[in-house]
Amino acid sequence: MRKLIEMRKDLDQCDQQILELLTKRFSCIGEMIDYKKACGLPILEPDQEADREKTLSQAIGKLSYKEELLRIFRQIEENSKCVQSRNLFHYNIALIGFMGAGKSTVSQYLKDMLGMNEVDVDTRIVQDQKMPIKEIFARYGEEYFRNCESSAIVNLKDCRQTIISCGGGAVIREENVVNLKKNSRIVLLTASPETILERVKDSDERPILNGNMNVEYIKELMEKRASIYRKAADIIIETDGKDISGICEELIQALIKLEA
Ligand code: S3P
Repeated sequence: MRKLIEMRKDLDQCDQQILELLTKRFSCIGEMIDYKKACGLPILEPDQEADREKTLSQAIGKLSYKEELLRIFRQIEENSKCVQSRNLFHYNIALIGFMGAGKSTVSQYLKDMLGMNEVDVDTRIVQDQKMPIKEIFARYGEEYFRNCESSAIVNLKDCRQTIISCGGGAVIREENVVNLKKNSRIVLLTASPETILERVKDSDERPILNGNMNVEYIKELMEKRASIYRKAADIIIETDGKDISGICEELIQALIKLEA
């Protein structure tokens, strides 16, 4: 039988090799991002990701410790995404735009694809106030809600590598734009009033649209806010008629261009 001391030596050697390989893998991720950026290639490759996952789970399926290995590789994949997004962005991405412009959907997709953190400003407010947005409006009025929104944004000052999904009225106050700009790039998502209505018509969670769920009202309010949104935005992405991966790829490419 082998001596315990020898087995320990083997373990140490394995750890060293794992460390070396992981370092190599992460640096390869960085190299790939630089290459894609230099050649203007797509950053998000959902099909490639699915293929690699399939190949890997086939290979792992034949091995001992299947469950453990799958868990580890899921973690490696997740952390590789973090390395990738750190290579891409040294700032947060703040999503702004009218209700129903797609902020939450884009935020969720970017979080999944880039392994970034995600904060939804409205969710923070709901947690702080311990009541839904519509109840905050009903009990205390819009001004009170806007104060909550401003405090929630101030409290994001220490966030890093984070996608910040803002409520549709968050940039109406100039101070919120100033605070967001300190460590974020601001991305405006737009959609036509018709698309917006289609996306929000069944929701009763948006007090601003209460009793005004129609294209005319949405159009009018959008026009009132349009210049505020545009002034706050570092980049603008139109979402009408595009799928989520296309929107997010366009967003990433526009941010890369902004830094270049
Ligand atoms: C608002 C938009 C809402 C929410 C609140 C006010 C607005 O967020 O913050 O109801 O003034 O446009 P969503 O844009 O996520 O719906």
